[in-house]
Amino acid sequence: MKNIVLIGIMGCGKTTIAKLLADKLQRPVIDTDEYIVEKYQQTIQEMFEVSEEYFRNKETEACKDIARLDGHIVSTGGGVVLNSLNIDYLKQNGIIIYIDRPIDNILIDVETSTRPLLKEGPQKLFDLKKQRHQSYLDACDVHLMNNDTIENIIDKIIE
Ligand code: S3P
Repeated sequence: MKNIVLIGIMGCGKTTIAKLLADKLQRPVIDTDEYIVEKYQQTIQEMFEVSEEYFRNKETEACKDIARLDGHIVSTGGGVVLNSLNIDYLKQNGIIIYIDRPIDNILIDVETSTRPLLKEGPQKLFDLKKQRHQSYLDACDVHLMNNDTIENIIDKIIE
């Protein structure tokens, strides 16, 4: 069975949706950031302090490992589309779903303290969305808006 892989900008709901979806479908869930933190015993902030490139290499390692899994629900870091190799790995055994959420909605509840790229403030999200939206569209098999209830988006994914 293929993995279901969620991509999208920070705060779009990937992690929350992945956990609920996994519960509903009785499938294992994996988050690329959590996977890297556990594997390398370093926080995302510590990795970024070494350099962004250091973190991005670990992220690619995670995608490579995940390509070997089966039937998982996978939530990814927002920058996973920055390297097309990541998407190649994730597509090997996965259906890619772009969770697209309006930035104004994200700004209401995004956690900035654990996200190094949001150090300059949550407004940075507008720039990232502008830079990455097309890459998310190009990478995905399905494009879904998260501007409804979480239950509805989960039903849409299952459908
Ligand atoms: C990043 C998103 C984060 C995390 C890292 C970099 C990005 O993941 O991977 O801070 O480049 O957008 P979330 O999208 O889960 O916040």
